[in-house]
Formats: sequence, structure tokens, C-alpha cells
Amino acid sequence: MRKKIVAGNWKMNFGLDETQDLISGLKKINKTSDAEVVIAPPFTNLFSAFEALKNTNISLAAQNMHESEKGAFTGEISAGMLKSIGVNTVILGHSERRAIFGEDENLLTEKVNMALKNDMRIIYCFGEELKDRNYGEHHEVVGKQIANTLYHLDAEAWKHIVLAYEPVWAIGTGETATPDQAQDMHSFVRKEVKHEYGAEVADNLSILYGGSVKPANANEIFSKEDVDGGLIGGASLKAEDFMAIVNAF
Ligand code: 13P
Repeated sequence: MRKKIVAGNWKMNFGLDETQDLISGLKKINKTSDAEVVIAPPFTNLFSAFEALKNTNISLAAQNMHESEKGAFTGEISAGMLKSIGVNTVILGHSERRAIFGEDENLLTEKVNMALKNDMRIIYCFGEELKDRNYGEHHEVVGKQIANTLYHLDAEAWKHIVLAYEPVWAIGTGETATPDQAQDMHSFVRKEVKHEYGAEVADNLSILYGGSVKPANANEIFSKEDVDGGLIGGASLKAEDFMAIVNAF
């Protein structure tokens, strides 16, 4: 059975005090769903978050990492560094990394390989732009994003992969994909993966939806058969909202 996961991508928000406050807030709210809860604070707050989350059922993810083991890459963070502070999950391929920082499929393939070499779990993001959807090319675009960066992996490696469908037009815009649009894409992706790797890999693959998920729409989105959770941006910055989304399962 595949895992349900709700992950909060804090993006470039919060210093140390705010991080501690938000984590205290999260810890105070009862989790009533069986979804795994993951938060991804900025790099500078990961270690203090790790300490604050000890003995809780909330785990951590990094928002990015470098594709090399180590070396002269001023300003970068490696997989080994993340592992050394207890961070075992990394978000890769976020549309902001692709669009703003120019991360292309070759680079993302290297990052995927480095994360797996370090035994990390990857939350791999993909999603079409509005123009792709308007041209009716959204399935094709998404299919390629996944194939070009993940289909070189063997079936075993897919145990470390979580997918996150984040249509670019729905990120931070307040406009969310309808539950049917999310289901349509998630089921397309699962079928593609099944075609490539077989039913076992596809059935065990968690596919999260991200893009303007809020307490008010989470339940309907999560009720769809192929939606196994969410990757939450803005609404993950408030403890009550984030936990309401978690508990919407
Ligand atoms: P919003 O929930 O703010 O739309 O962001 C989604 C996202 O990009 C999560 O990675």
C-alpha cells in the first residue's frame, strides 16, 4: 500500500525564531490522520528543526541540494551534509528551481543520482505551464519531465521516489487544479510508470499534488483515488492551516 504524505515546503521563509514558533505550533495540534508529515524549512533552520522534532512524528526534507559530493561550489549544500544532520529527504525539480535557477533535466538527473547514491528519499516535482495545458500538451510535457529524469533508474530505486505534481499555473496563484484535473494527471502518471516498471512500482508510488492547497480544498483533492497527499507552500507557514490540511485525509 502506498504512503499518504503531506509535506510543507516553506520556501525562503522564516528565520530561527519563527521556525521554532511554527514547529511548536505544529506539535500542539493533534494529528488525526495517518498521513506522514514532512516539513522543509530553509537550509539554515534544518538542524534546529531536527532537534525540535525529536520524538515527534514529523520528519524533515531539504528544499534542494547540489549534484556533487563535495568541493569548490561556494554557497552550495551536499547530500552528505544533509544526511549528517539527520535530513534524509530532499525536494528536487521544483518549478521555481527549474524556472528561476535554470535547473534543466540533465542537472536534475545528476541531482537525482546523487541523492539516491546517498540513500535519500526524493520528492520529485514536475508540472506543466498554463500554455502547455491550453495547447492540450500537458500530459506530454509531464510525461517527458518524468521520463527524462527518472526512467534511467531501476525498479529498486523507485522505492526512494515520491512524485509531486505541481502545475506551474497553480503555484502561489490561489488557483488550484480541480480535483478532477489532479486525478486525471496523477492517473496518467501512474499508468506511464506502470507501463515502464510494472504494477508493483506504480501501485506503491506516492503521488502528491501541490498548488494552492488550503484547508478549504484539501479534502476534495485528497479524496481522489490517485492523489496520495500534498506538497503545500503558502498554507504550510501557519500551523493551524497546515495541520488542517494534514487532518483532511
Ligand atoms: P502554494 O501552496 O503556495 O501554491 O505552493 C505550492 C508549492 O510550490 C509547494 O512546493
